[in-house]
Amino acid sequence: MVPELASRAHQQQIVPVVEMALKKAGVEKKDLSAIAFTLGPGLLGSLLVGTSFAKSMAMGLDIPIITVNHMKGHVLSHFIDEPKPQFPFLCLTVSGGHTQLVLVNDYLKMEVLGSTIDDAAGEAFDKAAKMMGLKYPGGPLVDKYAKEGDPHKFTFAQPKVPKWNYSFSGLKTSILYYLQKQVAENPDFIKENLYDLCASVQYTIIEILTKPLEKIMKEQGLSSLAIAGGVSANSGLRKRIQEMGEKNGWEIFIPKFEYCTDNAAMIATSAHYQYLQNDFADFDCVPKARYPI
Ligand code: KG4
Ligand code: ZN
Repeated sequence: MVPELASRAHQQQIVPVVEMALKKAGVEKKDLSAIAFTLGPGLLGSLLVGTSFAKSMAMGLDIPIITVNHMKGHVLSHFIDEPKPQFPFLCLTVSGGHTQLVLVNDYLKMEVLGSTIDDAAGEAFDKAAKMMGLKYPGGPLVDKYAKEGDPHKFTFAQPKVPKWNYSFSGLKTSILYYLQKQVAENPDFIKENLYDLCASVQYTIIEILTKPLEKIMKEQGLSSLAIAGGVSANSGLRKRIQEMGEKNGWEIFIPKFEYCTDNAAMIATSAHYQYLQNDFADFDCVPKARYPI
């Protein structure tokens, strides 16, 4: 991801995308009751485009603004459609920038019980993919090739981290050193083993992500588990979570593919619940690269 290019793309797209969305929804600007936008966390340049546009549009229409937390949005992707989880539940949010274990007590009352101390799960997929010469974002390609490979062919490092936290930087180093060593002996090593490498990398990431789940669910007395964020589109993770649910008698919530990666519906869903609570923002609000839940 090149932040500068991302902000320019936002500038280019924001007017046509908003017009298209209104047209598709069959809604006129004058009928809008508020404008919601993502305040953070994320890339500041892109957030600034959305914030400025939303403020101007709301001022022009003389309606209030609602600031949405992107990570809450991912969790609330479970309330776009049926079936909706009952509170409280645990949500493992796995995206390109975050890896969080979130205790969800209500639509807007959430508590992060654990998170990564370095790279995010999506970053681990993308960085491993880059080392194998795959294009960004590598996660979906690793998923695709992993289906053809042996997940136990190669063994990579798994971290030891305190309590409910995650770490993926050791795995990254472990993959890098292993590939460097093998490629020095055989320049075609990656090409010849791509499917098995992808399957083994994916298996290790899933092992790391799912390891604390049984303990945390038990300790928190929970019986509903959800996953959200871009990496929740991963077919291996979806399957594993489903299996864990069957084994432990948990109710499992896995978003539809279109609601896993970033989408406007999840932001609108958060905004809907904020609107019901009169949670409007001041016009002097500023975007936040870091914005805790
Ligand atoms: O939630 P998201 O769309 O954006 C952020 O908020 O970061 O997540 C994007 C991340 C990327 O790292 C991408 O590689 C990963 O989600 N991703 C996947 C899959 N689809 C998207 N990772 C593994 N398997 C997938 N099928
Ligand atoms: Zn996201």
